[in-house]
Amino acid sequence: MAYKIKLRDEAPPVSIEAWRRLARRRLPDLAWNYLEGGADDGVTLAENISGFRRWRLRQRCLTGITSPDLSTIMAKDKVAIPVALAPTGAAGLSHWTGDVAASQAAERAGTRAVLSTASSYTLEEVAEATAQNHWFQLYPFANRAKVGALMARARSAGYTAMFVTVDVPVLGNRESERTAGMTHPWTLTPPRLLNMASRPRWLLAAMRRRRLAAIHYLERNADPEGTSLLSSIRGAIQGAGNDAIASAENQARLMQGDLHWKDLAWMRGQWPGPLYVKGVLDAEDAEYAVDKIGVDGVVVSNHGGRQLDRTLASIDALPAIVDRIGNRAEVYLDGGVRRGTDVITALCLGATGVFIGRPYLYGLAVQGGVGVAAILEIFRGEMERALVLMGCPSVAALDRSWLIPGQNS
Ligand SMILES: Cc1cc2nc3c(=O)[nH]c(=O)nc-3n(C[C@H](O)[C@H](O)[C@H](O)COP(=O)(O)O)c2cc1C
Repeated sequence: MAYKIKLRDEAPPVSIEAWRRLARRRLPDLAWNYLEGGADDGVTLAENISGFRRWRLRQRCLTGITSPDLSTIMAKDKVAIPVALAPTGAAGLSHWTGDVAASQAAERAGTRAVLSTASSYTLEEVAEATAQNHWFQLYPFANRAKVGALMARARSAGYTAMFVTVDVPVLGNRESERTAGMTHPWTLTPPRLLNMASRPRWLLAAMRRRRLAAIHYLERNADPEGTSLLSSIRGAIQGAGNDAIASAENQARLMQGDLHWKDLAWMRGQWPGPLYVKGVLDAEDAEYAVDKIGVDGVVVSNHGGRQLDRTLASIDALPAIVDRIGNRAEVYLDGGVRRGTDVITALCLGATGVFIGRPYLYGLAVQGGVGVAAILEIFRGEMERALVLMGCPSVAALDRSWLIPGQNS
């Protein structure tokens, strides 16, 4: 029998969970807790994942299906897989190549990324580094002129779809993030600095590349000093505020807390392309957004369990929203998608496609764009295999008849 003996296990990680474990080793606590943490006790964070596992997939045999069609349409673009990258702020904290590498990897995989307002690269930098159009996520600033300007910039840079995030009127209670020093400004203590120093590759890249800011939040983003780790350390030591360094607290401070439907209607008027509301969990809200505001669709999302803890898991909120608006609007889902079978379950329940947040950040943290590509390939491969095993010819053929409620529900 032939076999290989290797001194080191050099095979790339085989699952999202394996990439997660590697990413944990690569990142200092501050960056890891920001990436991984949830609100309060993490109940919703955990249920986002466990909710998928309550469903069972129907398995048909002898269908002769070998290469199912995974392509679909998301946000009016044809994509090779029904999985795109969710907007994640401060991606440069995971890896200095951040949003640029992630968008390029998405594009190579035949899909798209949604660029966050809190990105580490400007929307123009990402547009220039990619060949395809991409999509933009808007955090409504308190300053409406700034919101309008950002939308106009996104449009002229070639972004085609706009995702307005509405589930952050106030920042969720992210205790692990604060405990690790990810406050505004960062709280850097000697143990935290030592912890950063124990990840020298991350620290050196962070210091040299200076991609730690939420760049669209800065008026002074032309000042590279403002985005450096050194300036953050200096700021912390001097006790001075440093607006440049990304922290969710800082972003929330600048956002419009009393955001209302009339603001969304105003944004609808500003954006001629497809517009989606991200962070909807209630069927009545979804209906109002579609019928009264005229949005093209919604993203069923609880912000990855980072906002209201003990709200519904995304997969549990999905069916009622599909039932209410699925016949006339697009319904996307994010939160807890970790397997190809999770994507399939969401599609069976009526989602047009899904977004992944943390999974691609794991890949980014470990290997930059190569890691993001590997994550997308894992999803593609898992979906393809599962559809063959189910005997289903395409993602377009998925509907509720392919699902059986699980035994433990
Ligand atoms: C580190 C991190 C940063 C995020 N930043 C943003 C953001 O800037 N804008 C936004 O709309 N959502 C943001 N989200 C939420 C994601 O878009 C998405 O809803 C969530 O990550 C999906 O859950 P998942 O991580 O389980 O895939 C962020 C999520 C994470 C993990």
